[in-house]
Amino acid sequence: MKHLISMADLTQEEVIELLDMAEDLKEKRLRGKVTDLLKNKSLAMIFEKSSTRTRVSFEVAMSDLGGHSIYLNYRDIQLGRGETVADTARVLAGYVYAISARVNRHDTLIELAECSAVPVINALSDLEHPCQILADLLTIREYKNRLKDLRFAWIGDGNNVCNSAILGCAIVGMEIIVACPEGYEPDVNIVAKARELGGTVMITHDPSKAAKDADVLYTDVWVSMGEEDEREKRMHDLKDYQINAELVNIAKHDAIVMHCLPAHRDEEITAEILEGPHSVVFDEAENRLHAQKALLLKLMT
Ligand code: CP
Ligand code: NVA
Repeated sequence: MKHLISMADLTQEEVIELLDMAEDLKEKRLRGKVTDLLKNKSLAMIFEKSSTRTRVSFEVAMSDLGGHSIYLNYRDIQLGRGETVADTARVLAGYVYAISARVNRHDTLIELAECSAVPVINALSDLEHPCQILADLLTIREYKNRLKDLRFAWIGDGNNVCNSAILGCAIVGMEIIVACPEGYEPDVNIVAKARELGGTVMITHDPSKAAKDADVLYTDVWVSMGEEDEREKRMHDLKDYQINAELVNIAKHDAIVMHCLPAHRDEEITAEILEGPHSVVFDEAENRLHAQKALLLKLMT
């Protein structure tokens, strides 16, 4: 792997290696052990959209590893005034050891990667969110002690996070079933790719069918960044795709409930479930740090 643009850039061996590294780094951090493997190395982080977790976890990851990160809001750099993506990539690659980017259009990442001499990391696009899924796989493995032969139920919008989850599940051998309304299905090319990788991917319009016997119940917001104009329609179309007590009762008794956050309580998930005993959402958020540290080490050293 030179870049991480899609979850499909990773093989099963690479995913497991990253999770093992992340587990080790997490344990070392708990024991207060420091490592400066990225000393004197910098990461440029381009953001075209808002972020709490991704920005802070990348910044802390770089600082914990002895390196440095540079937050670049696209409006503050020449990219926002019309400098090309290609020129931006070529210039940044002369200064830093890796570039992460959160972009409106997935094609921007592809262009960045094509023109950059250093690794490019997808920090969320309209198509995928692989860093999130790496942290999620780490979280699932912590709770379930395995990844294979689990049943992952996605409830709601078949969005960017869902697309990466489909690929992630296929790569590690986890079955995934997506319950979404008509018109909100995950990307067809992603589903095809996951199946090509040997993944079991099912799509249904019935949330209870997806939740039945699930080990993992996962949801995300009904209105992603950039879709604010569709809010009213989305709230209407997705209203029956909420993770609530009724759905959790259909899943396995020890099912974990996941959400990439930020969450909208009582929209895609009830406050009761988000705060309840099945929820692992804050461990999941913390694991962004550990998983990304592993990724940065793998790509930058
Ligand atoms: N889950 C996630 O990527 O959160 P942020 O948008 O806060 O970075
Ligand atoms: N699907 C959401 C994820 C946020 C982390 C979005 O794209 O806004």
